[in-house]
Amino acid sequence: MYNEIDLDIIDINSEPPTEEPFRQYYFMAKCRRWVKDFEQKNGRLPKSFVLNMGCQMNARDSEKLIGILINIGYEMAENEGQADFVILNTCTVRDNANQKVYGRLGELNGYKRHHPNMIIALCGCMMQEQAVIEKLQKSYSFINLIFGTHNIFKFPELLNTVYETKSARNQMVIDIWKDTDKIVEELPIERKYPFKSGINIMFGCNNFCSYCIVPYVRGRERSRKPEEIIQEIKGLVEDGVVEVMLLGQNVNSYGKTLDKPVSFAELLREVEKIQGLKRIRFMTSHPKDLSDELIEVMKQSHKICRHLHLPLQSGSTQILTQMNRRYTKEQYVELALRIRKEIPDIAITTDIIVGFPGESREDLEETLDVVRTVKFDNAFTFIYSKRTGTPAAVMENQAPEDQIKEGFDRLLRLVQETARQQISKYQGSIMEALIEEINENDQTMVTGRLSNNTIVHLPGDASLIGKLVQVSLDECKGFYYLGHSVS
Ligand code: SAH
Ligand code: SF4
Ligand code: F3S
Repeated sequence: MYNEIDLDIIDINSEPPTEEPFRQYYFMAKCRRWVKDFEQKNGRLPKSFVLNMGCQMNARDSEKLIGILINIGYEMAENEGQADFVILNTCTVRDNANQKVYGRLGELNGYKRHHPNMIIALCGCMMQEQAVIEKLQKSYSFINLIFGTHNIFKFPELLNTVYETKSARNQMVIDIWKDTDKIVEELPIERKYPFKSGINIMFGCNNFCSYCIVPYVRGRERSRKPEEIIQEIKGLVEDGVVEVMLLGQNVNSYGKTLDKPVSFAELLREVEKIQGLKRIRFMTSHPKDLSDELIEVMKQSHKICRHLHLPLQSGSTQILTQMNRRYTKEQYVELALRIRKEIPDIAITTDIIVGFPGESREDLEETLDVVRTVKFDNAFTFIYSKRTGTPAAVMENQAPEDQIKEGFDRLLRLVQETARQQISKYQGSIMEALIEEINENDQTMVTGRLSNNTIVHLPGDASLIGKLVQVSLDECKGFYYLGHSVS
């Protein structure tokens, strides 16, 4: 609906409105004038490239940026090299995420030498760190615009400032907010997939797990109102979406801070009622807040996918305490096994960190024990990365590097073994898959996703994309299936 606001009828010679989102539509109209000037001078529209470097939250933010860019007249480029305007939407959850950004900046500097009018912008979680901003100001003066996670809605206004100040060389426009309680809705969004969409149900995190930087860069937890979420999903469904992924750092605590508190399970019940919506996913679930009511809603539901991402982080109660996770090994195992019993066809996936300060060989054994007991369907394993400003950054006694590496390799092997076992259980059965894309390596095949998140490849063509298809799971190839349609 808002994608259709006609920017050309906005009077850009009047004062900007103060109310959001109208103020940003005003600046979009102004930016469109710059885009038209570009077209007149160059005989073509300018091209933009947005690189998403983080999690699903970041991916959704990138869709918002692209929605605005398309509205003001940009075309999207295939890669940075072809773009007149590049945005790096950064992540800072582990140090290697930061290193990737500096690597990309080196490349962009090279492009900019050949293309001096190129605009370069950085946004996302890494920009919420003061030390990063100082480094960028000092050593990366070719960047034109920096903004953070809390004011992403202000992108049109900031971009207009870049255009207005661009004649002044080396002017870096920087706007970072420390935190916000503001949720600005109803700006344009351009979805990556026409048939599925992420949707923010909440922002920020209040958990302060001691290793994690997310609460510092994404701010305090705030939930969107249920009626706004429902309205957005209904709009998406009208637009052809059949699967939604409800996004939050800890969806299980959704709604607690609303004026009229609503539980996540209640929200799911409402989403379930939306006609035409076929599949519901969500992430991430913190084990400490997963309610019996949620298990019940999942069990009853015909739309909630048979997949739960339930981050473990460590199997050692002592390490979990140090991590401030607020559950014990026994509580986690009890919860996971209860969910498996209640919903037998569910896939449980997890995140695990190896090498947290003070982690001993015995602690790692506890983690391996949980993996063997719960038999995860998949697990993302990470080596602990020190994040400045988090409580764990000043904890001592980190195990020697080779011990961490050895522990990590053992964990990875075990996780792969349980995942293979779990996934292969369905060999020979018929399950429903949402067909997502043409297979990258074989154009006569398509790739679909089962309710439990397993990937299946089957013969088919583009006409199947976005459709739910009954698939015979003929051959398990480790982490995915080869199958054929029986619809
Ligand atoms: N909100 C989600 C996770 C967001 S970050 C949750 O609570 O589950 C995604 C994953 O990155 C985390 O689950 C954790 O396993 C990992 N992670 C976060 N900080 C990390 C750090 N400092 N070092 C290594 N891994 C980390
Ligand atoms: Fe980080 Fe913990 Fe919040 Fe997840 S729940 S984002 S791991 S602080
Ligand atoms: Fe996501 Fe990375 Fe930010 S994991 S919330 S993009 S720090």
